[in-house]
Amino acid sequence: MTLPQIPQPVVSPLTPAAIFLVMTVDAGHEGDAREALAEVSSLVRAVGMRSLEDGLTCVTGIGAEFWDRAFTGPRPAGLHPFRELRGATHTAPATPGDLLFHIRAQRMDLCFELAQRIGFRLRGIARIVDEVHGFRYWDARDLLGFVDGTENPQGALAEHFALTAADSEHPASSTVIVQKYSHDMDGWHGLSVEEQEAVFGRTKLSDMEIPDEEKAPNSHLALNVIEDEDGNERKILRDNMPFGSVAEGLFGTYFIGYAADVTTTETMLENMFIGDPPGNHDRVLDFSTALTGSLFFVPSQTALDDPDSLDAPDAATAPDAMDPDATDPEEQAGDPDPHSSLGIGALRGRPQLRGDTTASVS
Ligand code: HEM
Repeated sequence: MTLPQIPQPVVSPLTPAAIFLVMTVDAGHEGDAREALAEVSSLVRAVGMRSLEDGLTCVTGIGAEFWDRAFTGPRPAGLHPFRELRGATHTAPATPGDLLFHIRAQRMDLCFELAQRIGFRLRGIARIVDEVHGFRYWDARDLLGFVDGTENPQGALAEHFALTAADSEHPASSTVIVQKYSHDMDGWHGLSVEEQEAVFGRTKLSDMEIPDEEKAPNSHLALNVIEDEDGNERKILRDNMPFGSVAEGLFGTYFIGYAADVTTTETMLENMFIGDPPGNHDRVLDFSTALTGSLFFVPSQTALDDPDSLDAPDAATAPDAMDPDATDPEEQAGDPDPHSSLGIGALRGRPQLRGDTTASVS
């Protein structure tokens, strides 16, 4: 029986707490990482069940280089390494990332518990190269003081823009770009409120959009409202979170944008960094430096729970994949290929807890 393609919880309401983990997988551990990916949903259930009303979710993303190392199927459309953008004034760097875990809940303790469980499960397999704990700031404002997320598509529209259609190569999947930004708070506070409002194209207190004819051409909104050739708006689904460290003088926005068609997000980034027209860059970048940049494919939940389904068709229909009792001849022969060490039973298994809550991660 073919299971329906259920999406990962990409389309979820904004939450007060989130943790973003970006990891790289150690060479030679591709098969182990695949095995662990299939168990993430069990970990979410185990942690989330203890406080159902707090809505714990996790979206798992797979980077292009890891895809090439771990899966035999062709790269999904839109999956490629994040493309660095060098504008005349600002740069969007590309930084490493094999796996992304976007963890959301009403409470940070649930996010933290899941992050640590994922960390334990991947210990000795992958290392955490970036970890950001995001929090809700007032009425969903960024640390620059503006409400962030207002123009996100909602409900069925959010699904339309963020998830691929049923007839696509990978139904119910998405592509996600993440960037960690650090703000120049002193520079920002040197602006008047009116000048700050011109940067975004919205009013600060009431979060109202400034009319098009009054909007600065280099405002964030002027450069991020984009249309297709038929004049329809192209949208992405954002779930940005503030983060920071007072001691380090770090005041940031973690940008995360999901799109069914990643070229939508990439066009926005080009407008921001290169400028539209070139040179007319996004004024928010004069107060925000991009520190990281990575792109990930978000398979459907159905595919993530059964990573064999992401292999090329001939591998997916191999005897061991069809029949859980069949013996894999390659495995018997001790083949070093990381895929061949994965029995179907292991992929469908429950989480194997490799560590306790006192051990350190990675
Ligand atoms: C420093 C990082 C960023 C900050 C602080 C920021 C903040 C904001 C704020 C305050 C708004 C207005 C309210 C809203 O509709 O959400 C907004 C809108 C938006 N931002 Fe950003 N943003 C950042 C980066 C990005 C990036 C990297 C992209 C795209 C790649 C992006 C795409 C958008 C879009 C599409 C809108 C909605 C435009 C509309 O339809 O009105 N933002 N952002």
